[in-house]
Amino acid sequence: MPIEPFAPELSAYLDTLVADRPPEIRAMGAKARQTSFPIVGPAAGQFCYFLTRSIGARKVFEMGSGYGYSTAWFAQAVRENGGGVVHHTVWDEQLSMQARDHLSKLGLTDLVQFHVAEAVQTLSETGERFDIIFNDILKRLYPSALPVIAEHLAPGGVLISDNMLWHGAIFDRDDRSEDTRGIRDFTRMLTTDPDWISTLVPIRDGLLVSRRRLERRP
Ligand SMILES: C[S@@+](CC[C@H](N)C(=O)[O-])C[C@H]1O[C@@H](n2cnc3c(N)ncnc32)[C@H](O)[C@@H]1O
Repeated sequence: MPIEPFAPELSAYLDTLVADRPPEIRAMGAKARQTSFPIVGPAAGQFCYFLTRSIGARKVFEMGSGYGYSTAWFAQAVRENGGGVVHHTVWDEQLSMQARDHLSKLGLTDLVQFHVAEAVQTLSETGERFDIIFNDILKRLYPSALPVIAEHLAPGGVLISDNMLWHGAIFDRDDRSEDTRGIRDFTRMLTTDPDWISTLVPIRDGLLVSRRRLERRP
């Protein structure tokens, strides 16, 4: 599976519109290009930052955090919201160590709790509810993660799920791979359940933004 975004030209344009950012965040972006590591990139990072600021989120849980690129955008926003916590969760020790280093250089580690563990299990063990849950785990795991996510989202909280265009694979009717099916099933679950309001924002590889309804519809 290629890791470049679905519409590279559009994606590159949107990235040029992102305001200047700290050199360390730029360095993390350069590292992703050199190593072909699938970070969300500047435009989606900025979108996460924007949403976090907009709803005044103080508690964020990230599922599938890599070396902390998306974490940096959430943590900056939480800091500007007055402080709080961002959970960084990845099952790879090396990536967690790299994230600690990058986020320390950005002066953000006081806001971040690091977990080297499976993300869905870790979320279920928190016993807490979050203003934002960011979902970027293995795509085949998205459907089974949804009940756990729903249980840990605060009232009015927002779920952001990445890769919902899956590099364009969702348009290929012949693609029945486990990950593509995971994306399709998850999309259907969130867009057909009357308890959820969702919209797919086609930045980079597609971010599905979802919120539980606070009241039942008449
Ligand atoms: C797409 S990358 C993360 C990119 C990160 N969100 C960013 O934009 O900087 C997903 C990472 O999460 C890890 N991962 C995938 N599924 C996971 C799971 N269920 N639990 C913990 N880590 C997981 C992968 O190994 C990979 O390192």
